[in-house]
Amino acid sequence: MYRLEGGRPLRGELAVQGSKNSCLPILAAALLVGGKVVLHRCPDLADTRSMAAILEYLGCRVLRSGGEWEVDTSCAFYRPLPAALTHSLRSSSIFMGALLGRFGRVKAAYPGGCDLGRRPLDYHLSGFERLGAVCRANGSIEIEGPRLTGAVIELPFPSVGATQNLLLAAVAAQGETVLRGAAREPEVVDLIQFLTACGAQIAGMGTGELKIQGGRPLHGCEYTVMVDRIAAATYLCMGALCGGEIALTNTTPMTLYNILPLFQKMGCELALRYDRVGLRSTGKLRGLGGLVTAPHPGLPTDIQPLLTAVLAAAQGETEMRETVFENRFAYLPQLRKLGAEVELKSPRLARIPGGSRYTGGRAEAVDLRGGAALCIAALRAGQSEIGGIEHILRGYEQLDRAVQALGGRMEKV
Ligand code: EPZ
Repeated sequence: MYRLEGGRPLRGELAVQGSKNSCLPILAAALLVGGKVVLHRCPDLADTRSMAAILEYLGCRVLRSGGEWEVDTSCAFYRPLPAALTHSLRSSSIFMGALLGRFGRVKAAYPGGCDLGRRPLDYHLSGFERLGAVCRANGSIEIEGPRLTGAVIELPFPSVGATQNLLLAAVAAQGETVLRGAAREPEVVDLIQFLTACGAQIAGMGTGELKIQGGRPLHGCEYTVMVDRIAAATYLCMGALCGGEIALTNTTPMTLYNILPLFQKMGCELALRYDRVGLRSTGKLRGLGGLVTAPHPGLPTDIQPLLTAVLAAAQGETEMRETVFENRFAYLPQLRKLGAEVELKSPRLARIPGGSRYTGGRAEAVDLRGGAALCIAALRAGQSEIGGIEHILRGYEQLDRAVQALGGRMEKV
């Protein structure tokens, strides 16, 4: 668990980790390459290690030296993926597109990941079928697609994972694929940039319509994973709530453009440079009225729990509506244990009256971002113990050390 002592302003500089949600699909995509890929800024997380374990199980070589990972997939061979390897994270599902593209077939146990709702794979599988594959999903997922052919695919919702999976399969399919309704998240853009660096031809990056010219040979490359915008937002939330002055270095304000104005509206001062975000806060914040999560460029659902923890202690009301995952407020009972007053009006709508006084206490992380929200709240006041940190370790590289670097009191015990 983490033990935290809140009530201190945060001051100092912090280099933000590489993006988990970008690095995970890129590791799966490396399988398509059949050569050597050198990745920089890979975060050392339970989830990135799980992806490395799957690559090794498939005969690939993964050499890690700090944030630099060398992945050689030239000797990869086909094997079904057992639950022991897939169940710990959602992104194991991106190996469906990678295995299908490389070997023309997949047998894999279902993925795991945070319990945020049903999280089905129907968009992924029907997209594979449009490319000519035959899919069966019962106790496990079986896909046969020895001759994938480009096609027009329309996603009913801009699913991040389905877009990533279909990109991988389409890069391997013969001919052109048009993917409509694609996700536009920066992590999808990062995957496209990686695939392009490997020789893929993909037009429409960052838009909802991607055109992929498949069947081109891929080659190895050297690539730097983007900075983690959700981790960056986590530290900004801590700085906003605790007061003080922090600066995130090694970061990319561009990928935070839809989030940063919220900190200004709450009353924080920002100082931006091309690779740095400075935030100054008195800790006296304003509520934001109404917020709605949505696919990019809307408010990221991953940031909803973090902001809720901050807004609970602000002056003035906020209504937080969650539109992406049906169970994303599961952390609220735990946040209340630390002193937050937040009313769940319906499964997807929370009323945050503001003015809560965090007192500290004992709470359990039930998922990754909900767990990070508890840590944010615990830094505001009192003494807290946060359990269930295996969820947090999936996505944050040494969160305790990062908080310590900003002068906060947090230790893993
Ligand atoms: C990714 O999950 C992220 N995970 C999530 O971050 C993030 O919250 C989410 O995108 C939305 O931005 C990773 O990148 C590893 P989706 P993903 O497919 O790809 C429904 C974190 O904390 N849907 O965009 O699983 C689904 O149920 C994690 O870092 C279908 O119905 O999200 C959900 O309601 C948590 N059928 C919505 O779409 C499908 O086939 C969005 O899911 C696929 C999705």
